[in-house]
Amino acid sequence: MIINYKINKQNYKITFCNNKESPDIYKALSKLYCDKKLLLIIDNRLNKRFTKFLFKDLKKCGLKVTLLRVSGSKINKNKKFLFKIIDKLIEKKFTKKSVLLSCGGGVVGDVSALASSLYLRGMIYYHIPTTMTAIVDSCLGGKTGINYKNIINSIGNYYHSQNVFISKNVIELIPNREFLSGIPEVIKCGLIHNHKILQMLKSDKEKCLNRDYTFLSKLIKLSLLSKINFFKEDVFEQLKRLNLNFGHTFAHAIEMSFKGKNIDILRHGEAVGIGMLCEIYYFEGKSKKFLMLKNLLDYYKLPSNLSHLKIINKKENLKRDIFKNIFLDKKRIGKNPRIIKLVNIGKSKIAEMKNNTKIKETINNVIF
Ligand SMILES: NC(=O)c1ccc[n+]([C@@H]2O[C@H](COP(=O)([O-])OP(=O)(O)OC[C@H]3O[C@@H](n4cnc5c(N)ncnc54)[C@H](O)[C@@H]3O)[C@@H](O)[C@H]2O)c1
Repeated sequence: MIINYKINKQNYKITFCNNKESPDIYKALSKLYCDKKLLLIIDNRLNKRFTKFLFKDLKKCGLKVTLLRVSGSKINKNKKFLFKIIDKLIEKKFTKKSVLLSCGGGVVGDVSALASSLYLRGMIYYHIPTTMTAIVDSCLGGKTGINYKNIINSIGNYYHSQNVFISKNVIELIPNREFLSGIPEVIKCGLIHNHKILQMLKSDKEKCLNRDYTFLSKLIKLSLLSKINFFKEDVFEQLKRLNLNFGHTFAHAIEMSFKGKNIDILRHGEAVGIGMLCEIYYFEGKSKKFLMLKNLLDYYKLPSNLSHLKIINKKENLKRDIFKNIFLDKKRIGKNPRIIKLVNIGKSKIAEMKNNTKIKETINNVIF
């Protein structure tokens, strides 16, 4: 199965690979007009069996492959990681017609895409997402970035992978946490765009958890199509695309508040789940929609607050930091942070948060 889409008259693809090894990737790369040099960036935590086969297959295509192993995870989403890639591209004399293929979660994808866009002002970029967050969300839409000065994605641009490979083989091997933590981004698409996604998550939990590929590829496809619907005419996030930030004003504030601690104690997708609850609560308290979302998160054993984190002993400091970080929201245009209001299931709109007391109440009553 292939999803074809266009951005500014340029064609892009998402290829679902349901065979055991990597022939679809092999086929796509064999046809590509390039200088036959490929930098393969691989997340260290990926299953070694998969990476061994991928490396072999790529060589079989007649490509000269340079391997760069990197550590994903948010603590490494920084300039050191970015320049490690760029230094390798320079050292091995890659050209604009060389390929960078990244294989990893959202962090590896975001940093690799940024490096591809910067090196010689842009080289060929392909991606194999390997966490559920990356598969249903970050692999698509072209957002690249690194965190700098403790501001999430403070440096970044837009650069799209020409082809994204969703691999059955990868999905089967994803550890449970990296699998489940992508579910909130799927729920988000259900809430803001396509209620069918919510129905599928409610009625076919076992298929989802058992990684039934027929079921999952349908779920992934619907989520990706939702994302395409929001960004294809608004790549630079002027209006419509902002809706995809549902849950993210609070999620990013929570993630940034773990500065200096192990910020990886909460996955991005897990923070988005809590963030969506906050953003519903801010407007309507513990309403029907709030409870529906909470039940769905509970159903998939996803966190709906931070009470499960034993390391939180300085709660008051953390609350203060989250409140402060809300005002670093990148969507703000005046002094007020912006937030996505879920009007109904399938309908959302952009709003401002003007009530600081309500923000504090939301932090107290939802996050802790
Ligand atoms: N560009 C976008 O549109 C977009 C959208 C959503 C999230 N993001 C970014 O993505 C990041 C979060 O993504 P993530 O949750 O994938 O985080 P991640 O890339 O940090 O991966 C989480 C952990 O899983 C490991 N990992 C990755 N694939 C694995 C596999 N198959 N097997 C075993 N371990 C594996 C990583 O090493 C890491 O420790 C955040 O930085 C966020 O800003 C970007």
